[in-house]
Amino acid sequence: MEQVLASIIYNSEVVPGVYLIWLESAQIASQAKPGQFAMVRCGKGAEYPLRRPLSIHRLDNNKLAFLFTIIGKGTHWLAQRQAGTNIDLLGPLGNGYTVQPGSRKLLLLAGGIGIAPLCFLAEKAINQGCSVTLLLGASTATQLYPRHLLPAQAELVITTEDGTAGREGMITDFVHDFVGQADQIFACGPASMYQTMAAQKQQLKGKPVQISLEMRMGCGLGVCYGCTVKTKNGLKQVCKDGPVFNLDDILWDEFAQV
Ligand SMILES: Cc1cc2nc3c(=O)[nH]c(=O)nc-3n(C[C@H](O)[C@H](O)[C@H](O)COP(=O)(O)OP(=O)(O)OC[C@H]3O[C@@H](n4cnc5c(N)ncnc54)[C@H](O)[C@@H]3O)c2cc1C
Ligand code: FES
Repeated sequence: MEQVLASIIYNSEVVPGVYLIWLESAQIASQAKPGQFAMVRCGKGAEYPLRRPLSIHRLDNNKLAFLFTIIGKGTHWLAQRQAGTNIDLLGPLGNGYTVQPGSRKLLLLAGGIGIAPLCFLAEKAINQGCSVTLLLGASTATQLYPRHLLPAQAELVITTEDGTAGREGMITDFVHDFVGQADQIFACGPASMYQTMAAQKQQLKGKPVQISLEMRMGCGLGVCYGCTVKTKNGLKQVCKDGPVFNLDDILWDEFAQV
């Protein structure tokens, strides 16, 4: 884990309200694994004292990317930054996704901005010889992550809630069509998506599922206990023990959403 000042190379809106930012940081890029995140300082000086957690979206040699939705003042500030600005980053943090050595066929489920960590996982897995089927969901066609930014070799299945592109419905409505061939399933999306998956467990046919959890984070370093979650193995800190967990390990009935 490093604290670095990373220079912005590119920062642009790729979907309404969603920005893709590329930064130069050999230190973080050389260590990062899919599913890990960085704590990003937003604002000048101590303007916003808490760093914002963002998943590592992609890597390219010494460069790393984040994909972020404008939610509040921190992400609004970040969206306004121009190329050449230095951004203070702490990372890579967290455990990341684990592809088991025998796994060859991966099923990835990306709900909305959940594509952020899964793009990195897809690229790395394809480079290592895995085949990737990506179910990419959005509320409507204009909110879909652009196809040309996704790994070309991934088999893409699109779903929209209003049916304006791809299959009409939620990703979870179509998982059963693709589970059969998958060795492992990886998901990133809202907690409601995971709760539906946990409730419809028979559709997953016993396949192992890793999810990336989002909790409000004070420190990102396991110090403040602000991100504690109840699991079958006791209390865990999402920043240090996660953010990736097995779907089965979370006590969903007691899960408090951010
Ligand atoms: C491990 C992890 C990875 C994430 N990866 C991404 C990503 O790749 N892309 C993306 O768009 N978003 C991601 N998020 C959510 C992102 O951190 C929040 O949207 C962001 O912190 C909002 O900050 P803000 O200042 O704009 O909003 P505000 O509402 O002004 O934030 C106020 C405070 O609440 C915290 N906060 C608000 N919403 C969230 C949230 N959903 N999760 C955690 N903290 C929150 C902020 O960090 C800040 O400390 C991730 C969250 C976690 C925990
Ligand atoms: S965010 Fe402080 S312990 Fe996890």
